[in-house]
Amino acid sequence: MTPVIRWPAEAIWEAVAPLLPGFTVEILPEIDSTNTELMRRARAGRLEPVLLVAEAQTAGRGRLGRDWRGTPGESLMFSLALPLAPADWSGLSLAVGVGVAESLHPAVGLKWPNDLWWQDRKLAGILIETATFGAQRHAVIGVGVNIAPCEAAGLSTPPAALQELLPGIDAAQALLRLAAPLVQAVKAFESLGFAPFAARFNARDVLRDRAVTLSDGLQGTAHGVDESGALLVHTAAGMKQVTSAEVSVRPQAPAKP
Ligand code: BTN
Repeated sequence: MTPVIRWPAEAIWEAVAPLLPGFTVEILPEIDSTNTELMRRARAGRLEPVLLVAEAQTAGRGRLGRDWRGTPGESLMFSLALPLAPADWSGLSLAVGVGVAESLHPAVGLKWPNDLWWQDRKLAGILIETATFGAQRHAVIGVGVNIAPCEAAGLSTPPAALQELLPGIDAAQALLRLAAPLVQAVKAFESLGFAPFAARFNARDVLRDRAVTLSDGLQGTAHGVDESGALLVHTAAGMKQVTSAEVSVRPQAPAKP
């Protein structure tokens, strides 16, 4: 049976509207993808700040062409769209991760560049897209958080779920917890850039001191992020600043008998 979710739209609006004039909250039972919908609206010139939540997505998108579908109650799925004009866009997804992770639980970690992890398993993902309309650049910040434990569905590592850390929490309560901190993080990033977030990211960095392999094959040991949000990787050729790559944690070599 589909669970009834009581979305605290008014409380979210009250917490966020002072930070974001003209802000509205919209909850839909189902849509293809909250990111796709807000990108369609931005391209059509609908540029007012909005938080769009969907209880189910039929064509939800993750990074690198992956899917992010979800059924009511299983996953919190929303996108925040707003006009944004930072001097430098680098590190926006990391700042969003910091805001979301800090609002959820002290034990939530960050895996560069876009994931929230708990106990070496993915808890949440972030997908940021931008649209330009006239002179204005609009950011669409999509967030998916696993709420209830689910089947691994072919994944080698089952995803983490927020209810493992916060028993009884539902998608609506999670959204109320994170909406205002997310907007605060985005607004702080717009005016100050990533630098003030670096130490906060590093405090939750799950890759630190671990052997990592980058998508281009480079291997090394992760050493946190710098003030631009680049991942520092100590390789055989010295310290590298990684700005765009996928990172996998290299499996430990099996212990010798
Ligand atoms: C990732 O980990 O690859 C990013 C996942 C982002 C999923 C969210 S769910 C709400 C929003 N709408 C989408 O289609 N994707 C994002």
